[in-house]
Formats: sequence, structure tokens, C-alpha cells
Amino acid sequence: MISGLGYAGFGSDKLEDWRRFGTNMVGFQAIERGNSLLAFRMDDRKQRIVIDRAMGDGARFFGWEVADGTALDALAARLESAGVTVTAEPQTLADARRVRALISFHDPAGNRLEAFHGAETDDAPFSPGRSISGFRTGPLGLGHVVLTVENIEPIMAFYTKVLGFGLSDYIEKPFRAYFFHVNPRHHSLALIETGKAGMHHLMVELFSLDDVGQSYDVALAEERVNVTLGRHTNDLMTSFYAKTPSSFMVECGWGGREIDPASWQPVEMHHGPSLWGHERVWLPEKDREVAREMRMNAAREGLRAPVQVMEGNYKLMSGTCAWWDGVRRN
Ligand code: FE2
Repeated sequence: MISGLGYAGFGSDKLEDWRRFGTNMVGFQAIERGNSLLAFRMDDRKQRIVIDRAMGDGARFFGWEVADGTALDALAARLESAGVTVTAEPQTLADARRVRALISFHDPAGNRLEAFHGAETDDAPFSPGRSISGFRTGPLGLGHVVLTVENIEPIMAFYTKVLGFGLSDYIEKPFRAYFFHVNPRHHSLALIETGKAGMHHLMVELFSLDDVGQSYDVALAEERVNVTLGRHTNDLMTSFYAKTPSSFMVECGWGGREIDPASWQPVEMHHGPSLWGHERVWLPEKDREVAREMRMNAAREGLRAPVQVMEGNYKLMSGTCAWWDGVRRN
């Protein structure tokens, strides 16, 4: 029913810091909207991310996309029959969100969720804040959001049973994290059990690996790196995490895998969240130690996965080593 993460908004009064961070480091296009609102574009849509001074620090909302008005009505009915209070939002808010229509409600952790249809696109082409090759959005949505929660189970039940998200996989060590899909993107949502409800990170995926490497240089120079460059075991994303001007992180990634939601079977992942790298400043030292040990195990076992590429961002090479060519032939 829900087809993707369409937009997200965060309350912050650090609009100037956010504008610099969003354009200079991530590569968003900034659209100034008066002195209390900053909007970011990532593609042909009029806005994807909103930073709103009026919302207050720590406030946030997530816009989940459905196909049309009929689907929006059906989702509202489904929520109400599950006992969830749904608000049909007025045209003024739909205009501000640059969509045709939206409803709002809350998940059991208190996150404001919006469901919408009919996102407006801009006639002017996307113009990134620094020279990047672009973001991978379209039918995969803008990326993924990761929330921290007190207790995963009740929140997971809401997203899977009421909203229809599919469980992709989960880890129990070095921390509990559950990953959910609504389209072929491996996860559009994840929940990390930290004992406290909050915003952990927002992931955006870039077209070229070099876009991520160049963001990494900017983040290093500005001392924003909160998780070093590494590769995830489940979505196979090569990424790093930067501190935003707010209290959460943005993950800049490349090469995320696609899954087939119709046939996907969720599994527990035993190698931790990363094949290599991703040293996590945000984790308590004893958990970092566990994470390091899991990575070393993965390395000892020779855990690896092919890179996941798209037309235009790779070039297939021929082998140049007789031994390797022999290995490949077999
Ligand atoms: Fe992530």
C-alpha cells in the first residue's frame, strides 16, 4: 500500500548550519522559504527534506507515499479500524508539503507520520549544492530513515501489521536492529533498540561511489564523521555517517542492493551490521568492542559480496591475472 519514503521534516533553528551542511556536504539543493523554513531538493520533486524552525528542536515528520486518493482513503480506513487517530490535513498543509493531499497520524513511539499522494515536480531541473552525479530516488523513495525506540516489538507490530511494511532482516548483536521494506530498496525504515525514542539517521544514496568519497573528504575536514567509511552486510551499502547540525546523523551511501518484496524471506543476520569499516562513535565502548570483534570474524571468514551497480556508474573490466581468470572460468 505504501510505496516509499517520499519526504521528511525536522525541527531546528540552525537553518544556516543546515543549509551549509545540506548543500556543501550532502549535495542537496537548498530552497529558501522565508526565514523559518528551509527546503531541500534531491531530484525532480519540489522538496524532499524540510528543516522548520517553527517545529521546535527534535520534532520530526515522515511522509510515506501512496499511489493516489483511493489508496490514501483506504490507508486512512485501515488505520482507523486499527484504532489509530487519523487527521485529514487541510489544503494549506498539502500546499506546504508540495503534494496533492495528505493525512497524518502517529506511530506508537510518538513519531508524526504523514501519508500522501501526488508529489509536485519542478519544471526547473535539480541543481545540486555541490558537484555530485545525483541521488538514487524514484520508485525507491528518498532513502531510508532509522529511528531509535525503547522497545522494538510494539513499534514493529504497527509498521508491519497496520502499515504493511515487510521485515527484511534483523540483528541482535552488537545492538538490536530491525529493517523494513516497502519497495525494492532493502530497507526504507529501521528500528534500533536503545531504550529511548529518537531519530538515529537518514540515509541518502548517491549515484556514484566518488560522490560518497568526496562527501567523506568534506565531512573529515569539518570533523563531522560519526561512523567511518564501511559496508553494510544487509543492504550492501558502502557509506559513512555525518553529524548533522541536529542531534541525528545523515548516512551518505552508494551501491544499495535491491530485493524482490514478493519473494523475500526475512533472516537473522549473524555477522553484525558491517562487512568492514563503520567504526561507530555513537556506540558505547563495550558495544564498539563487540562490533569490532564481529567485523574481524567476518574478515577471517572471508565474508564478501559483489558490488551492486547501476547502468552508467560502472565499467566492466576484463581479467588480467591468469590465476584469477582461471578462478572465474570455474
Ligand atoms: Fe542506514
